[in-house]
Amino acid sequence: MSTQASITAVRGKLVYFIDDPFLTDVESSFRYIPDGLLITKNGVISAVGPYDQVKNELPEGITPVHYKNHLISPGFIDTHIHYVQTEIIGAFGRQLLDWLNEYTFVAEQQFKDKTYADAMAKIFCEELLRNGTTSALVFCAVYPESVDALFEEANRKNMRLVAGKVLMDRNAPEKLLDTAQTGYDDSKALIKKWHKNGRSLYAITPRFAPTSTPEQLEMAGALWSEHKDVYVQTHISENLAEIEWVKDLFPKHKGYYDVYEKFGLTGRRSVLAHGVHLTEEEMCRCHETGTAIAHCPTSNFFLGSGLFKINQAKDPKRPVHVGMGTDIGAGTSFSMLQTLNESYKMAQLNNYPLDSLKAFFLATLGGAQALDLDDKIGTFKVGHEADFVILDPESTPLLKTRNERVKSIEEQLFVLMTLGDDRAVKATYVAGQLAHSRD
Ligand code: GUN
Ligand code: ZN
Repeated sequence: MSTQASITAVRGKLVYFIDDPFLTDVESSFRYIPDGLLITKNGVISAVGPYDQVKNELPEGITPVHYKNHLISPGFIDTHIHYVQTEIIGAFGRQLLDWLNEYTFVAEQQFKDKTYADAMAKIFCEELLRNGTTSALVFCAVYPESVDALFEEANRKNMRLVAGKVLMDRNAPEKLLDTAQTGYDDSKALIKKWHKNGRSLYAITPRFAPTSTPEQLEMAGALWSEHKDVYVQTHISENLAEIEWVKDLFPKHKGYYDVYEKFGLTGRRSVLAHGVHLTEEEMCRCHETGTAIAHCPTSNFFLGSGLFKINQAKDPKRPVHVGMGTDIGAGTSFSMLQTLNESYKMAQLNNYPLDSLKAFFLATLGGAQALDLDDKIGTFKVGHEADFVILDPESTPLLKTRNERVKSIEEQLFVLMTLGDDRAVKATYVAGQLAHSRD
């Protein structure tokens, strides 16, 4: 039986990173190929480079899709998002703990119903792709059905998603609680079912320290030690009242980070959302252990949580892995471009001008590094998975006017992240296949 290779070729302005611009210079970290060609075969990149040099590698009969004047970037990576909160974006007037009680814990109860979860998983994945996001680290609800719904949809779309069932055995409505034992058992069964099933990967997901008993955190840590190649995701130091509450609940611990560390929940492939108020000592521990932070600026602004210090986290003396997170539904946009826009403004309020290259790094290769997936996604390299986004720098009348006046690729990217949103995403490719087309 002969099998036909699936080939895709796209031509346009390639922009991608091969290293971290927070730690090295632009020449060593950034690649811009004004007339580039990307060829993919069976879902992975088979050739990449200047059109003139790579065109002779085009298999016979294959004409590249020419995205003239468009940028071609590795797909965006969202390192923190709740699919079960898609429907509560823009819930008025509360900070974290009240917002959870009034809106979030109500919405998430609906995800026990598999039919409902199926419908929302479809809307969620389509919204990711409409925004050029090809990979994400996702919180589901406490119900295993909600995890099945998401991974089934992700596998249908062949997306590389990392996700898990929320663990919560206290301080939430009865209907949303598991127990230390059922949380462990359900998570273990889901790991078996979904981890490395297609492109899916599993994340052990204690919601945050206040909603888990010490017993539950201990069992979560034990589960991770039994399955070291899965992920851990949770929240940390987002809001000042939350931090005080953690001190009351865990008085024997040095601080918030120490709670997770003592229960064996930190290290490589552990991703902590927010970290707005982490201390210098806690940042040092993140650096030493390889624990990553998901930076979620639209959410931090929306809930009034505070200003994450990106320059402090990425201090070259002890850099921490940082990825961008939309944190839907406390976050206000699925668009990674809009998320970068808000991260720039947040950095400005900390007297740090976050430039466009560092920002796009965080949304692509930086996110891949935070997820320990930089050997697979986040850059353009032969053998890597072919997830990419076609960006239209003239997608609105205003963007067109502004773009006509840019003088460098850095400026073009900066304007895109300031004015761009889902309209700037002309197309999204997943594993070499067209998965979303704007027009
Ligand atoms: N902390 C604990 N749960 C949540 C959540 O769902 N959203 C945010 N933003 N913070 C949290
Ligand atoms: Zn969150």
